[in-house]
Amino acid sequence: MFSKKALFALFTSLLMLSMALSACGPTATQAPVVPEKTEAPEATEAPEATEAPAAAQEVEVFSWWTGGGEAAGLDAMIVVFNGMYPDIDFINSAVAGGAGTNARAVLATRLQAGDPPDSWQGHAGQELIGTYVAGNQLEPLNDLYEANGWLDVMPETLIPLISDNSNIYSVPVNIHRANVLWYNPAILEANGVEVPTDLDSWFAAMDTLQAADVIPLALGEQWTQMHLLETVLLSSLGNDAYNGLWDGSTDWSSPEVTAALEDFQKVLTYTNADAASLSWQDAAQLVVDGDAAFNVMGDWAEGFFRELGKEPEVDYGWAAVPGTEGTFQFLSDSFVLAAGAPHPDSAVAWLTVAGSKEGQEAFNPVKGSICARTDCDPALFGVYLQSAMDDWSSNVVVGSLTHGVVANDSWKSSIDTALGLFLADPNIENFQSALVAACVESGPCK
Ligand code: GAL
Repeated sequence: MFSKKALFALFTSLLMLSMALSACGPTATQAPVVPEKTEAPEATEAPEATEAPAAAQEVEVFSWWTGGGEAAGLDAMIVVFNGMYPDIDFINSAVAGGAGTNARAVLATRLQAGDPPDSWQGHAGQELIGTYVAGNQLEPLNDLYEANGWLDVMPETLIPLISDNSNIYSVPVNIHRANVLWYNPAILEANGVEVPTDLDSWFAAMDTLQAADVIPLALGEQWTQMHLLETVLLSSLGNDAYNGLWDGSTDWSSPEVTAALEDFQKVLTYTNADAASLSWQDAAQLVVDGDAAFNVMGDWAEGFFRELGKEPEVDYGWAAVPGTEGTFQFLSDSFVLAAGAPHPDSAVAWLTVAGSKEGQEAFNPVKGSICARTDCDPALFGVYLQSAMDDWSSNVVVGSLTHGVVANDSWKSSIDTALGLFLADPNIENFQSALVAACVESGPCK
């Protein structure tokens, strides 16, 4: 069993080592030949299937990928699945709502009622380990990893984030980047604004834009505000102190955290007043439509921009969130096998596709993410994702809060409550006290 601290220490050191060795790099080509396309689901371990349900072979897969580039990515992987397993009906139980805000509530209710979907989308890291594994809601997948040779083609740094007690519990389908600043190149140029590289130059740029009556920073509903918060914490605190928030080595009541929260408060002054009523797609679209200059969002926004028919480097540009250049704040969508899955063999078939080169190469270029596997062909990806591959293999990697890496669900939800109160009544002192209490209640702080 990894403690949070050990997990992160291990994660960080393995990560740096593997980055140095380019083990995670997009150009890694050495993949063992894996038999995944021909593996019958029965050949891999699955929980006891009741005798051959000759009728309806199906698999129910749960996610929140219902639109805006996300559904298109999932659909591309379903096509691969249907080709490999034509006898299994794919039941797509996606529930709309960015970052799974609605879907995860529905999932929790179903799990509580003992009615799990066969497989669902989760996030590598504490969401998986500290929530679903801790709740005995998942089946281990070690045999599936062995049968498909996945330990040789998944970044070794990711394995501790999906494992507990030597059991591996999910199949990562991608790597997303959270700390991306999307911008409208024409607006910046028209206002004589350079792409900012640190918080001060970002504030100066946004002052200029605000004076010109342009919305400086497009923002959406509350989870996107938590997403913005985590990137500003990273920028303001730096990598080590940011990581320390999650293992107890950075004091949530310190003046550094106060300063970071003040930076966040200042960033919010540049945002649109109707943020709470906008989805992440609505907010991102303001940038490509020329109604706002910047948006901070994960790189699923790129899948959305492409779906809108927008051109990279023309309709939208990108940079690391100011002050985070050289750091890749990551998350990984990862599919699991439910304990008590109604169709375990079909679920294993789905997971086999999710972990396959073919499945990941179909899914990721459309979704706006890079493969979790290290052997995907970079030529299949557009210019933004190729740059993300370079950064993933060369940057310092830290984890995302909003998307499940660094905190389990209960801690994240206390932070979300604190954030909600702060948005309603912007008092830094109260906000910081609530964050301190959240760490004591659900995190590593004592
Ligand atoms: C994240 C998820 C991404 C994307 C995003 C917006 O939590 O990992 O794949 O779906 O939410 O919905």
